[in-house]
Amino acid sequence: MIKFQRKTRGFFSLLLLLLLFGSCQNTEQERVEQPVASDVEVEKLISEMSLVDKVGQMTQLTLDMVLVGPPYGAVEPQRIDSSLLRKVIVDLRVGSILNCGGHTYPRSFWNETIKTIQDLSMSTNGIPVLYGIDAIHGVNYTDSATLFPQQIGLAATWNPDIVRELAEITAYETRASSIPWNFSPVLDIGRDVRWPRLWETFGEDPYLASTLATAMIEGYQGDDISDETKVASCMKHFLGYSQTLTGKDRTQAWIPERQLREYFLPTFEAAIDAGAKTVMVNSGEINGIPVHVNSWVLKDLLRDELGFDGLIVTDWEDIKYLVSRHRVAVDYKEAIKMAIDAGIDMSMVPVDYDFPVLLRELVEEGEIEESRLDESVRRILTLKKELGLFDSPYPELYTHSEFASEASRQKSELAAKQSITLLKNEAGILPLADGADVFVDGPNADNLMALNGGWSHTWQGTDPQYNTPGKSTVKDLMPGGSANSKYIVLCLGESPYTEKVGDIEDITLAQDQLDLVKDYADKGKKIIVVLLEGRPRIISEIEPLCDAIVMAYLPGDEGAEAIRSVLFGEFNPEGKLPFTYPRHPSSHTTYDHKYTDRLDPQFGANAFQPQYEFGHGLSYTSFEYSDLVITKDSVNFDEDIEISISIENTGSISGRETVMLFVSDSVASITPSVKRLRSYQKIGLAAGEKKTCNFKLNSRDLAFVGRDLDWISEPGDFIVRIGGLSEVFYMKGEDNKVFE
Ligand code: BGC
Ligand code: BGC
Repeated sequence: MIKFQRKTRGFFSLLLLLLLFGSCQNTEQERVEQPVASDVEVEKLISEMSLVDKVGQMTQLTLDMVLVGPPYGAVEPQRIDSSLLRKVIVDLRVGSILNCGGHTYPRSFWNETIKTIQDLSMSTNGIPVLYGIDAIHGVNYTDSATLFPQQIGLAATWNPDIVRELAEITAYETRASSIPWNFSPVLDIGRDVRWPRLWETFGEDPYLASTLATAMIEGYQGDDISDETKVASCMKHFLGYSQTLTGKDRTQAWIPERQLREYFLPTFEAAIDAGAKTVMVNSGEINGIPVHVNSWVLKDLLRDELGFDGLIVTDWEDIKYLVSRHRVAVDYKEAIKMAIDAGIDMSMVPVDYDFPVLLRELVEEGEIEESRLDESVRRILTLKKELGLFDSPYPELYTHSEFASEASRQKSELAAKQSITLLKNEAGILPLADGADVFVDGPNADNLMALNGGWSHTWQGTDPQYNTPGKSTVKDLMPGGSANSKYIVLCLGESPYTEKVGDIEDITLAQDQLDLVKDYADKGKKIIVVLLEGRPRIISEIEPLCDAIVMAYLPGDEGAEAIRSVLFGEFNPEGKLPFTYPRHPSSHTTYDHKYTDRLDPQFGANAFQPQYEFGHGLSYTSFEYSDLVITKDSVNFDEDIEISISIENTGSISGRETVMLFVSDSVASITPSVKRLRSYQKIGLAAGEKKTCNFKLNSRDLAFVGRDLDWISEPGDFIVRIGGLSEVFYMKGEDNKVFE
């Protein structure tokens, strides 16, 4: 068994503990002080470093730059080109390398490659290289690693505990591949379902995403990242990346500061509180300013206000793109100056050798102070030191005997099961009886890649030759009926994509898939649709033809068994949608919309008609909510609001339910949302069992960002809504309460 260290710190750990015991408490979040990066050894090292050493530390190249063959075209079998490696490490003193040479590698390749790099770096200037990778659903670039559901599926579990456990396993398997730095989690809020990276997020709600972000970071980092089972996490992509006007990747965003603070900042704030060590910058622009040159975002907000003292890395090639895409700099050198001035510490260059040369010139020409480089180098060296890389630049080969263990596989399967969300179950057609006559069809039925999505063995996740051997597709595990079978299970959705490649012109499910459903409907079949997709594709045309609809997201290598066990009732579904599933292509509205968003053309209030609501998810049992009680009718700003509710399992099998607490602010100085998620608990109930859940909120939990851009809470009526019940309490006070 892997021995995972548990960290018990701060508010969210308390939340987790209380979740376990079926009671939940919200308290003021306490900020964990970031370590001040000043350390005698680090300072000594900086004082001895040359300018070449310093600019090198701030440079990150992709692995291709030291492999035989051109960038994006490493020659197979892949191997290090020793003259390129000398150029990169000895001449340029490059401090960081990332990525894989296009596809997944065996652990032995990772270990040997990184050992070669580290040995040369240590013998050159005694500074280890910081290797980083996107291990976003398990260490997806190492052969046979445990692959988990993608983040959107994890969000559907509403279970911080399992998110933490998976992150622990990911950290372990990443370190087992000799890599100490993980470009995860994505903390962008997925409020535009067209966005091709929606599946990399924890969904549309900042509170749910913040609780899961905290769990993930604690799982990755533990108490001590020098432990060779832990990695440094990387919050990405700061800030406002997900909310583009077009819904397409890396296009412009217009986000007023108030909304930026209220919806897009909280996940990062929670992650910093949880001790996240690094952050990656948003490739895009907000309000006309590329974030890579926006010192207000990177300094005022991130450093000064949030107190983040860790490493800021650019995203892929983004300094160059300031010239070629964003057109805010005339040439690469000017772009470097702008990005350094804005506050970046390390450039993910990653496919040219010019960055360190030009940065050095800028210092020699007096355009950038050397002391400015020292600040960044200090952060980089401090991180390397905290990771224990000076003492042990790579683990010995095969120290990590629990790599891809059976226990880890089981955790992945459990997470996939917990993520699966039963959207529709007409006349209780599911679960299927043992021996039911079932035929499985659809483009994603016999496709392992469709279970994993992007960032799986290759960047796009579309090359089957790297699939983990022995993993099953849905078709592999389901009974093999014929097209004449009574029940047709149709695996529909999307094919894998990552980033820009996933931009779409139409959010509707592909026409051939809609037609497939209609064909089977014409034949009078019982239709069960399983959706394997990274974002909700519109299904309103065929939804009435389906007897059951199961949302599986991108459940990973164990997804097929998870789907099978849900279809046959061996696992009672408990997933809940972490986003609003739209009904119409031009009508996507989040659950926490404003009252005006409900106005319909008949001047009624029926415009909000999503296919399925945020938080929706059926079970094979039934839960009845009763006795919603708020202990006091009115409270003042300093008092806790205590709320209790009873939930009874009124069905005949055990099940797990996510109890969601929403609050509506009746009247406010900023138009209030119809409701906001303010807390949740996940509980298990045996058949017939009844439990009481207790919640405690305070005025900060009800706060919003006001006209002066502060978090405030206002006196007045608030409506607490849980499971279809509601109760009102009054917040007393002369003035608004302003929070720091
Ligand atoms: C993506 C990041 C990723 C980085 C390194 C970028 O294109 O936007 O999410 O971490 O590449 O692979
Ligand atoms: C991705 C990298 C990927 C590269 C391949 C980038 O945008 O983030 O991780 O390997 O493109 O072209």
